[in-house]
Amino acid sequence: MPYAVPKLTDYSPAALEKAANECISACQAEAAEVRSDSDLKSLRDRWMARKNGILTQINDLWLKGAPKEAKRDAGMRVNELKVRITELVDAAHVTSGGDAAAESVDISLPGIRRPIGAEHPIIKTMNEIVGVFQKLGYSVAEGPVVETDYYNFEALNFPPNHPARDTQDTLFIANQQSKPQRERLLLRTHTSPVQIHTMETMRPPIRIVIPGKVHRNDPPDASHSPMFHQIEGLAVDTNITFGDLKGTLDHAMKSLFGSNVKTHFRPSFFPFTEPSAELYVSCFICGGSGKRGADNAPCRPCKQTGWIEVLGCGMVDPNVFEFVKDNGYDPKKVSGFAFGMGVDRLALLKYGVDDIQLFFQGDVRFLEQWA
Ligand code: DAH
Repeated sequence: MPYAVPKLTDYSPAALEKAANECISACQAEAAEVRSDSDLKSLRDRWMARKNGILTQINDLWLKGAPKEAKRDAGMRVNELKVRITELVDAAHVTSGGDAAAESVDISLPGIRRPIGAEHPIIKTMNEIVGVFQKLGYSVAEGPVVETDYYNFEALNFPPNHPARDTQDTLFIANQQSKPQRERLLLRTHTSPVQIHTMETMRPPIRIVIPGKVHRNDPPDASHSPMFHQIEGLAVDTNITFGDLKGTLDHAMKSLFGSNVKTHFRPSFFPFTEPSAELYVSCFICGGSGKRGADNAPCRPCKQTGWIEVLGCGMVDPNVFEFVKDNGYDPKKVSGFAFGMGVDRLALLKYGVDDIQLFFQGDVRFLEQWA
């Protein structure tokens, strides 16, 4: 039976509500049955026509017949109903109908999944290394990637024109010639300048690690990238010794590569540390033998030496402290050690990736292996 507007005798709120709901349900049901444009037109005519449409009938039957005291309430109710019916008719559209299964929602189907991102292997490695030092009480500092000559070189005891500058093939920002040399901008070649920024703002004692991006004018190949990542470390206090450096880094290497790796320090040179060293860990791929597998194949990551170089380090050069002396870093009173490591190289070794470029090409098939 198609819906017909009933006469109302009972004008109580409950009865009005019931009549309105029946009307809405009927309209919804009819709107769901629209299968063609002509159905849509009939629906509209049946419900909305000025002359004898259902809304007009309701107006006549429910409002005009209402007893005086119920008029106000019935009026409000009818107005709400008109809005609702108009919405339903406006929203009605042609549907294919028929197959009930096609229209119903199968709530057992999996929902639409949004792909979730994964931590990039470089960031993951960085966080792991930073985490090891945080457990030792180190805090994290960061600094600008676009740096001045002063912070990248001069205050780290690379005097202007000193040949030590040639060890870091720097990318310079254009049009800086009119500035004094120490103010000229460049892309930092290492995270060491943040040692200076930190000592300028924090008084000793300090223990910090500094993760970040660095750039060098190196053509890209399997082991080089003009952009890569480093983590710097700096500890300054009274009576810090080379023994503290060795103990700290030995502990860190065992946390990162496993408790059975050995560490080994070889003398080196960096302008900002004296003495300086390179830290090697026993190869965590071949266990230090230089050979792999039953057939004694040569171990490539350690080039058959059994040792892998992981970082540079040393005792902070007193000349560096001179640049921040006014903030409590009198080289006669404090001493410290520093270290810096290449994150990308460690990530390559750790995950057995053979081309650094893969880290920066954004190929989801490669990156999703870390998801
Ligand atoms: N900044 C050096 C580089 O990029 C690495 C380094 C060596 C950092 C020794 C240090 C350090 O803090 O003590 O080659």
